[in-house]
Amino acid sequence: MRINPEEITSVLKKEIESYSGEFQVEEEGTILEVGDGIARIYGLTNCMAGEMLEFSNGSAGVAFNLEESSIGAVILGEYADLREGATVKRTGSVLQVPVGEELIGRVVDPLGNPLDGKGPLKTDKFRAVESDAPGIADRQSVKEPLQTGIKAVDSMIPIGRGQRELIIGDRGTGKTAVAIDTIINQKGGDVVCVYVAVGQKASTVAGVVQRLTESGAMDYTIVVNASASMPAPLQYVAPYCGCAMAEYFMYEKNGHTLCVYDDLSKQAAAYRQLSLLLRRPPGREAYPGDVFYLHSRLLERSAKLSDDLGAGSLTALPVIETQEGEVSAYIPTNVISITDGQIYLVPELFFAGVRPAIDVGISVSRVGGSAQVKGMKAVAGSLRLDLAQFRELEAFAQLGTELDAATQRQLDRGFRMVEILKQDQYEPMSVVNQILIIWAGSKGKLDDVPVDRVSEYENAFLDFIAATHSEIVEQLGETGEVTEELEALLSPVCDDFSRSFLEGSAPDPRAGAGTGEESEEEEADDTEAENAAAEAPEAEADAEAETAADDAEDSDDGEEA
Ligand SMILES: Nc1ncnc2c1ncn2[C@@H]1O[C@H](COP(=O)(O)OP(=O)(O)OP(=O)(O)O)[C@@H](O)[C@H]1O
Ligand SMILES: [Mg+2]
Repeated sequence: MRINPEEITSVLKKEIESYSGEFQVEEEGTILEVGDGIARIYGLTNCMAGEMLEFSNGSAGVAFNLEESSIGAVILGEYADLREGATVKRTGSVLQVPVGEELIGRVVDPLGNPLDGKGPLKTDKFRAVESDAPGIADRQSVKEPLQTGIKAVDSMIPIGRGQRELIIGDRGTGKTAVAIDTIINQKGGDVVCVYVAVGQKASTVAGVVQRLTESGAMDYTIVVNASASMPAPLQYVAPYCGCAMAEYFMYEKNGHTLCVYDDLSKQAAAYRQLSLLLRRPPGREAYPGDVFYLHSRLLERSAKLSDDLGAGSLTALPVIETQEGEVSAYIPTNVISITDGQIYLVPELFFAGVRPAIDVGISVSRVGGSAQVKGMKAVAGSLRLDLAQFRELEAFAQLGTELDAATQRQLDRGFRMVEILKQDQYEPMSVVNQILIIWAGSKGKLDDVPVDRVSEYENAFLDFIAATHSEIVEQLGETGEVTEELEALLSPVCDDFSRSFLEGSAPDPRAGAGTGEESEEEEADDTEAENAAAEAPEAEADAEAETAADDAEDSDDGEEA
């Protein structure tokens, strides 16, 4: 075979011309040591901090510690089948999760893999798990309310869109309940919700998902689950992943979002585990030195964006579990200082039947007031103070001292307000109804209603107003204001209703059969009480003191809290 030198040169020339000088080199390392969700890797010299790695079994990882001769990485997934010497590849990008509308209604793990058996996610959009919080010029102050539907919260601890409000309390005090009710209450609104479950039992999360589905809340909710059985690295990244999924709606869709992180104490524990395994030095309570930054960089990502950026918002409801009410432990104090207020739930109130068990004394909302509906602000203005005074009086009244009429009235009002603020789980209330009933309570319209009939009164009253005075409801719904004219209209209606309710002939639209008897009894009780009141003020005080004592027994534990 003859070789034509000209041909060869032309081929070589062509090759040289098309040579672009770009090498596609994949950097590979090998595992030195692996176990407990972490790996020590040799050979990835150019690896970036926080870079996503790919293990030979398909698990993803994140470079955590960059050391002189090796790197420490966390493994986000299975690690049981990884061996010493196995290869690890760099991916050149930071950790990402799928985002988009397709995630709504789904239950996913922190990396966006479906857990609900509804098939793969059809989304091609991704967002970095760790991203910078918006700067000060990109934000504006919180100004729209985020209604939780919980009377005690919306009236006294109002939350605004873009706010970070901590839900804190011991085990089983209703922390998750507050968050879930808030999600359910967004129904029919424009808020996309993300519920991030960290380190919880899978059965608990399944219960939550079922509840959300039954209430129709999954139509606008994403559930991210890193249950207790998942490796610690997944529990650690879950809140950031959930936040990234919400950020998509805030930044790209200019929408409103709500993120619940349930709970951050478990995330901190997972992070502590990682850090100790990676031999980072332990600090207070064995948490690593940067555990504050762990939560601050997450919660700083909540924001109300400026109009230039589309005015979207991300409201965060982080949850922290305390041990024996110890709010001065390391993680609780950290998160309290990062957030814009806290809803503090106490077991004493919870077991006394005051649910939600919110301790009004130390629960605050530092920014939500400016976002509160005007009417609510007006009717609930002095509620917090009144309740605090009531608690003090209640303690005093327990000593059995004789009280003057004014004090007794204040006590009676207090008992009724406490009753009004009780609310069942999964029954969020519209802000109009909240305003109506709190208004009625604070104006003393319920003063004659026996304490144990307050909730019955509340239901009947709200049904009555809705059925017969829809104009009031409409006006309140539109303006959100309690004007003098409205009060003038509402007051006689309310008085009439109270009278007929106590006489047993309340035009209760829901009244069923068999209420007649009860009403007669009530009537008798009532006339007795009235007579007594007419005869001597002391008699009234006595009669009422009995009820007072009864109730005091229930809630005296709460006082100590
Ligand atoms: N407002 C309420 N009315 C009646 N029951 C309630 C209310 N809120 C919560 N509960 C009940 O109290 C129990 C504990 O509530 P929840 O699970 O929300 O507490 P938690 O603080 O999240 O608990 P954990 O620490 O286990 O996460 C549940 O059985 C719940 O149904
Ligand atoms: Mg819970």
